[in-house]
Amino acid sequence: MISIAKPQLGEEEKRAVLEVLDSGMIAQGPRVKAFEESFAAMCGVKHAVATSSGTTALHVALLAAGIGEGDEVITSPFTFIASANSILYTGASPMFVDIDPATYNLNPAQLEAAISPRTKAIMPIHLFGLCCDMDPILEIARKHQLVVIEDACQSHGAMYKGRRAGSFGIGTFSFYPTKNMTSAEGGMITTDDDTIDEKCRVIRQHGMRRRYHHDELGFNFRMTDVHAAIGLEQLKKLEFRNQQRRANARFLSDHLKGVVVPYEPDGCIHVYHQYTVRVTDGKRDDLRAFLQENGVGSEVYYPVPVHKQKFYLEELGYDVTFPEVELAALEVLSLPVHPAISQSDLETIVTKVNEFMA
Ligand SMILES: Cc1ncc(COP(=O)(O)O)c(C=O)c1O
Repeated sequence: MISIAKPQLGEEEKRAVLEVLDSGMIAQGPRVKAFEESFAAMCGVKHAVATSSGTTALHVALLAAGIGEGDEVITSPFTFIASANSILYTGASPMFVDIDPATYNLNPAQLEAAISPRTKAIMPIHLFGLCCDMDPILEIARKHQLVVIEDACQSHGAMYKGRRAGSFGIGTFSFYPTKNMTSAEGGMITTDDDTIDEKCRVIRQHGMRRRYHHDELGFNFRMTDVHAAIGLEQLKKLEFRNQQRRANARFLSDHLKGVVVPYEPDGCIHVYHQYTVRVTDGKRDDLRAFLQENGVGSEVYYPVPVHKQKFYLEELGYDVTFPEVELAALEVLSLPVHPAISQSDLETIVTKVNEFMA
């Protein structure tokens, strides 16, 4: 089976983990600091704060930005549940807008209509490895004095007009094993703002500035040095691995027939966390079953948009509809694109998709 995802961990990661274990310093320590500095440099920002996951990175970033009870945060419902849930954790409400059907990202043209007196922030989600159209988003944020918190959990190293994902507002990343780089579990917050950086560090560690003096309510959302050691090695390989993903995506886009291949707008560097095609005419699920029978793994990200999830419908009472999101949920299919697939795997994927679609 050609798998949809495969974490690539080599001798370097193993050696780095053993060094940490041998050092006896296994909780948050010098490796976390080194990982934060290297990650900030990759993103082109002043600070990075490591956390235990992408979800906790989002949660801490929102709290550090002052988001709380009664506030509204505008975002896309076509995402992994963590984006919206992190807003709920703060006591605020996610307010959804529809997506651009070509990019699957939040449609900036829908933003202003969703702004209310309670809106405090916009959370653009750079889905599948492609940055949102940040110029109009930043302009609207400036005009209405809104904070921008980027969910870049799927977009390590992606670029928009020469700038990295995570460098436009407060950035958040996940290092879950299927991501373009991993630390097993882990997350990162990126920012140029010294105050936000300091707040994130305090919230991550039980509101503690001075040892055992707790100024505010915080959490234990720390990363360990064991995880950071893996992350540091993976970060060294990120650029190369992203190039491999891009080469695989180029081959697929050049050869697939009968499906709508991913779109890379001018000025963007897509890092293909997922290579997601659109399969029209109700054929998506049959294509997926056919690929499965023929040894090609695939996945639907995401079959149920956030506003249609049971908890959002029944407990929170969301009663909204977003035509482009709902159509995408029926038509998208992600195919293997990760660096561990071979040329012959790529050819098999193309042959089988084209055979079914013909
Ligand atoms: C878009 C998005 N946001 C948030 C998250 C949450 O990250 P984590 O699983 O590390 O908590 C993920 C990853 O799974 C994601 O894909």
